Amino acid sequence: MINRRKFCTLTAGALLLGPAMASRAARSGAQELRLSHNLTTDHSVHKAMTMMGERLVELTDGAVSLRIYPGAQLGTQRESVELVQRGILDMAKTNASELEAFDPVFSVLNVPYLFTSRDHFYQALTGDIGRELFQASRRRGFEGVTFYDSGARSFYATRAIHTPKDLYNMKIRVQPSATAIAMTQLLGASPTPLDFGDLYTALQQGVVDGAENNPTALVTANHGEVARFFTLDEHTRVPDMLVISSQTLERLSSTQRDALYQAAHESMLFQKQAWERASEQAVITAGQDMGVEFIQVDQALFAEKTRPLRDDIAAQSAQSGKMIQAIERLST
Ligand code: GCU
Repeated sequence: MINRRKFCTLTAGALLLGPAMASRAARSGAQELRLSHNLTTDHSVHKAMTMMGERLVELTDGAVSLRIYPGAQLGTQRESVELVQRGILDMAKTNASELEAFDPVFSVLNVPYLFTSRDHFYQALTGDIGRELFQASRRRGFEGVTFYDSGARSFYATRAIHTPKDLYNMKIRVQPSATAIAMTQLLGASPTPLDFGDLYTALQQGVVDGAENNPTALVTANHGEVARFFTLDEHTRVPDMLVISSQTLERLSSTQRDALYQAAHESMLFQKQAWERASEQAVITAGQDMGVEFIQVDQALFAEKTRPLRDDIAAQSAQSGKMIQAIERLST
């Protein structure tokens, strides 16, 4: 259910793109697209979407603009995508894990160790596979506009994890995704699906012993204050995805749609660079200022335990099976 109070903040808590652009966009006939996400304003994804908004105004000469609502003020990722599906909200940035609840093909992006490197990940997502994924949810009332790098996800906890054995019986927060739950179970841990916004307190109060994410979560969400051991097992590379309501797309002219895709593509390239810097800086800040210990591990031990999941997801549908094979073929 959508939190009514959050929804009412649609106008009150908005982040405007800047007075000059806002007034251009406010002129008669202009469309303002509302976009929700759950990250902080210092996150590279937020910065990239801000840049996308600026480019959209330039490319459409003020006819289309973006209004960004960060920090889950309009609801969780799941709630935001539901609003997009119903055409109440124009766009949402979510993590692809959460999209599994809307269409099973997104499970492919959650398969452990499927992407063998960052280059492999970009090769797949910027090519035919990415395009197929963006269009896969058309039947659900929304589609992908671009993806953003969310790095490699690893376990971090209040105790050190050196091998899968250390995960035994640990309570690990995962995203609300069936694949993430299954992966954690295969490693012997006890998965607890929770919203990102509830995780800091859950770690602090011992509701969970650990979680899994990229290193920036230690800093931007302050998780490094309450979980001091980060294990570099790098089990998945699950992208963040920007989705748009089919109803919104229909309202835009074809020239405006082209401008939107162009601005989104540029923001993806911008975030690719920004992500690299943010990620490296997060490791330095977490290590030096927060006392987080980064632990190198034998990733093959984690890969071996989670391997059955790849076959399970491949068997889920012909589309998933073909997509996994296509991704494997791209790996050098
Ligand atoms: C990443 C992602 C977030 C997501 C989070 C999570 O940090 O960028 O959008 O919410 O993972 O683990 O929930």
